[in-house]
Amino acid sequence: VKMSSMDLEKLKMTGAGRAIAVLTSGGDAQGMNAAVRAVTRMGIYVGAKVYLIYEGYQGLVDGGDNIKLAHWHSVTNIIQQGGTVIGSARCKAFTTREGRLAAAFNLVKKGITNLCVCGGDGSLTGANLFRTEWSSLLEELVQKGRITDTMAKQHNHLNIVGLVGSIDNDFCGTDMTIGADSALHRIMEIIDAIMTTAQSHQRTFVLEVMGRHCGYLALVSALASGADWLFIPEAPPQEGWEDRMCARLEGSRIKGSRLNIIIVAEGAVDIHGKPIPSTYVKDLVVKRLGYDTRVTVLGHVQRGGTPSAFDRILSSKLGVEAVIALMEASPTTPACAIGLSGNHPVRLPLMECVEMTKLVQTAMNEKRFDEAIKLRGGSLVKVSSIHIIFNQAHDLMILFFSVQIIKKEAKSKDFPAGVLRTTGTSTSFLTLPNKHMEKIVETIAKFNISALLVIGGFEGYEGVLQLFEARSRYDELCIPMCVIPATISNNVPGTDFSLGADTAVNAGCDKIKQSATGTKRRVFVVETMGGFCGYLATCTGIAVGADAAYIFEDPFNIHDLKTNVDHLTEKMKKDIQRGLVLRNEKCHENYTTDFIHKLYSSEGKGVFDCRVNVLGHLQQGGAPSPFDRNFGTKLGVRAVQWISERLTENFRQDRVFANSPETACVLGLNRKVIAFSPVTDLKAETDFEHRMPKVQWWFKLRPMLKMLAKYQTSFCEYVPGEIEHVTRRSISIDSGF
Ligand SMILES: *[C@@H]1O[C@H](CO)[C@@H](O)[C@H](O)[C@H]1NC(C)=O
Ligand SMILES: *[C@@H]1O[C@H](CO)[C@@H](O)[C@H](O)[C@H]1NC(C)=O
Repeated sequence: VKMSSMDLEKLKMTGAGRAIAVLTSGGDAQGMNAAVRAVTRMGIYVGAKVYLIYEGYQGLVDGGDNIKLAHWHSVTNIIQQGGTVIGSARCKAFTTREGRLAAAFNLVKKGITNLCVCGGDGSLTGANLFRTEWSSLLEELVQKGRITDTMAKQHNHLNIVGLVGSIDNDFCGTDMTIGADSALHRIMEIIDAIMTTAQSHQRTFVLEVMGRHCGYLALVSALASGADWLFIPEAPPQEGWEDRMCARLEGSRIKGSRLNIIIVAEGAVDIHGKPIPSTYVKDLVVKRLGYDTRVTVLGHVQRGGTPSAFDRILSSKLGVEAVIALMEASPTTPACAIGLSGNHPVRLPLMECVEMTKLVQTAMNEKRFDEAIKLRGGSLVKVSSIHIIFNQAHDLMILFFSVQIIKKEAKSKDFPAGVLRTTGTSTSFLTLPNKHMEKIVETIAKFNISALLVIGGFEGYEGVLQLFEARSRYDELCIPMCVIPATISNNVPGTDFSLGADTAVNAGCDKIKQSATGTKRRVFVVETMGGFCGYLATCTGIAVGADAAYIFEDPFNIHDLKTNVDHLTEKMKKDIQRGLVLRNEKCHENYTTDFIHKLYSSEGKGVFDCRVNVLGHLQQGGAPSPFDRNFGTKLGVRAVQWISERLTENFRQDRVFANSPETACVLGLNRKVIAFSPVTDLKAETDFEHRMPKVQWWFKLRPMLKMLAKYQTSFCEYVPGEIEHVTRRSISIDSGF
């Protein structure tokens, strides 16, 4: 159900006279602060009073100083902090009716009838119970003479919205929970460190990661690190796994691997439901194989550190959506949780999701493991199916191998640049196929190449489009062609994300953090990469809480620059000591980084000074983020499956002849599904001059960025999330991401 812009303009008024409270509960998760910030600012934006509840439900029960009216700047500079600044406590009192009665009194006293809870399924269930009991609690308060009848009538309904904060990614209905991506960052940092230091010794590492009931973290870590063996609660190993695991470890030693990695989720069990502790796995390896084996239990480290860019952006999106959901709620709308589908916020029926999450546990307890995985839905099913493919489909691996060989040979024999590059940046990718078509066709014929997998950026796509268009002239080009989009600019049509973009946004956040600490009364102007495409500037801007992000697609003029200077001056006066302005490298031909630097330096004289930081290739460096590793693995597997199907389908008279548009595609994430889009269809959607898609999904994050920065904006461009039905999602195993 989509609202029109008209309704959203009205939204601003509906917040007036209403009060929203936000609390964080249960185990802390990175990204909770970004959610608190977004709820607070969006709440203030729609004209509501916003209260921060400290120490979770305990603060709600205790009241007093634990419930504080928030101002715009109450949540400044918290987006980059780990944990939760408003605290989160386990609360026994709230599980009793007496405790909830006290909580209801505290809310009514402050006129609060909207509650946003960020926590795990237990916390959200508590919130729902509170809502169901609300009118009877108020009745009791009236009876006891603690509130008047009028007060009870005025506050007769409590709206609840849930944000799922859980590093385990264990909540049904949403693809990602707040904190899971950051936890993966911590795990991958440790695995990477082990891999670089352990190469000199032959060693086996048994890593125990969090996940009592959900193996998501373990599964993705295993895929992203190329682990030899994996134990997760949802997929207990079949009888005899000890022999198979040892054989596998021996096999990889024989193939020359010096390091074995075994990943164990803390809740791993065997098919009889008996726990498999990491120490048991270690002892087994030592006893049977005599390998030098170490156990590392990652524990609390996984909750620590700064939140990843993904979590900050996710939490911001979900927090904004939560406020809209509260504003739209009526006594008849069921309590909802805001989840993520693909990369879009969606409203989920809270209790159905909780029920489903419980069913998973029941299914696992009753050893119906396949059903548990299906019920879990979301990312787990998709990732686990890939894991199964990696472990079982030898054909696929062989095919993958042979495609690699083709590429290697072709490259070593001076294949014209522009095709068949496995890596490379947009700058090093200089020649497009059109200039060398004869030579390319000759090479394809010479090496008997029957399929083409191009991993690259905009040129990769444009190159395949040119090859496709030349098919009428050359039969040799009638072969399946697939583009896996890989560029930090994220400007390839046919996909919402390209490989490398998430890593680049994270790298940008890190660099900005390094340069901006310890300075006072200073505005940083940071230039980001991306050509004409403003994705990096916009997403980095949201993730670091920038005051503005200037991009080419969102034209700006001198008045906008002046408005921002005024805003920064105001901010400095309010003792907020830091300003941050991002500027995409090609956002404006005349308002250059240098121009903006000089403008801000002059206008800010006496109030703040201004420094420039050009991120440049710093954004390309560093280890790939867990998101990119995971996404890359998924795309790689799908691409090779697809190529193999096209080869079979189009094999006639001893050769491959593929000439339909469906055989030359870009592979990518389209809203919710990983899909193949024919390059010829994408042509109409492409702005070739500026090298980007004509319509970019992330553009609708711009109003949110401006709103969160208190920058002049009309929020009527914001497209709210849809209402999602859990039941359908949970069974659509193959769709989604
Ligand atoms: C930049 O300045 C030139 C004149 O030097 C002008 O022709 C051009 O239109 C300006 N560009 C923009 C985007 O305003
Ligand atoms: C070329 O490939 C086809 C199958 O695609 C195969 O039948 C043929 O023998 C190959 N020729 C050479 C020279 O490798």
